[in-house]
Amino acid sequence: MNTLTKRMLLCCIAILCLSNLMAQAQEHVNGQLWMDTEGNHINAHGGNIIKYKKNYYWYGENRPYNGFTTEKGVGVYSSKDLKTWKNEGIVLPVSEEAGHDIERGCIMERPKVVYNKKTKKFVMLFHLELKGRGYEAARVGFAVSDSPTGPFKFIRSTRINANIWPFDMSEQDIEAAKKTDASQWKDWWTPEWRAEVNKGMYLWRDMAGGQMSRDMTVYIDDDGKAYHITSSQENLTLLVCELKDDYLGYTGKYNMIAPGGQNEAPCIFKKDGTYWLICSGCTGWAPNEARMFTSKSIWGPWKQLPSPFVGTATGYRNMPANKTFGGQGTYILNNVADYPIFMADIWNSRHLSQSMHLWLPINFDENGVPVIKWADNPW
Ligand code: DGJ
Repeated sequence: MNTLTKRMLLCCIAILCLSNLMAQAQEHVNGQLWMDTEGNHINAHGGNIIKYKKNYYWYGENRPYNGFTTEKGVGVYSSKDLKTWKNEGIVLPVSEEAGHDIERGCIMERPKVVYNKKTKKFVMLFHLELKGRGYEAARVGFAVSDSPTGPFKFIRSTRINANIWPFDMSEQDIEAAKKTDASQWKDWWTPEWRAEVNKGMYLWRDMAGGQMSRDMTVYIDDDGKAYHITSSQENLTLLVCELKDDYLGYTGKYNMIAPGGQNEAPCIFKKDGTYWLICSGCTGWAPNEARMFTSKSIWGPWKQLPSPFVGTATGYRNMPANKTFGGQGTYILNNVADYPIFMADIWNSRHLSQSMHLWLPINFDENGVPVIKWADNPW
């Protein structure tokens, strides 16, 4: 072997070692920082993943290191293998215009992007809170793009289905709801207050202005119909709202899941014709016990089952199943492996950009009920 060949061989070995090192650096372990191809922690939270052509796109909240408001917008990362993620930048930036719905300093949370086969557009729905108003606006934002990597054009933000009652509420129930008065109830959680909530007190309170929308997801069913599933009525009740064919507005058909159940972070998937919905309770950024519901129809009736989480997080602070291993769900990624993958955020409320990712395989017991155990990664 001459000197030149030796040098070339050494060079090849060095390149191989380096690429192996880089591949190792991108190996993602639940509860640890997950690096993108530039070596930065993946700053995409509360989001979802879609596949388009040969690529996966992971959309999420781009969070600042300090503070709770949105300073940049919604970002996206791309990947061919769901393991190596390239930062493609901010696809829906905040606006610098004072008074704009998505003015810098607003709060944009839980963005979900879906592809509309009819319009060939990428549609984003997200939870929006207006600048300087805490969490009181409780709106949903709509944005649209021709490309998965944006730019997304902001369309509008709104509350939901003003002056429309859930399609399955009887005349009698509507009359009972109309007799409630939310302004009378300063003390929550009393049995009397709960009875009024169950009658539809907050539904009625928000009838004229439209229903609140906070934590949310979007689900596309096998027939292409899209549903916005969102925490409404002061986070007490989930709504399932049918979207129009272009996914950019509501048909007006909607109903409630678990009225008064206080469910957040809805994540949904369907297996063999059965829908499974996994949610969290409402404890801010702190983890709590997940809840699970199942139904044969998107319109219910939904039956509540125990949390699917079992065991302890062996690799992450020994977090128990009744704290969802420290995470809060954001999306269920289906059809990428032999099993669905539960995607969650382990929130770091002191430094939101540093919130960790938690992806776990969803297995099924002998009755076909989802079971989620700790694993270092979902693969
Ligand atoms: C829990 C929600 O799931 C998050 O998206 C965020 O809104 C926090 N609450 C804020 O406390």
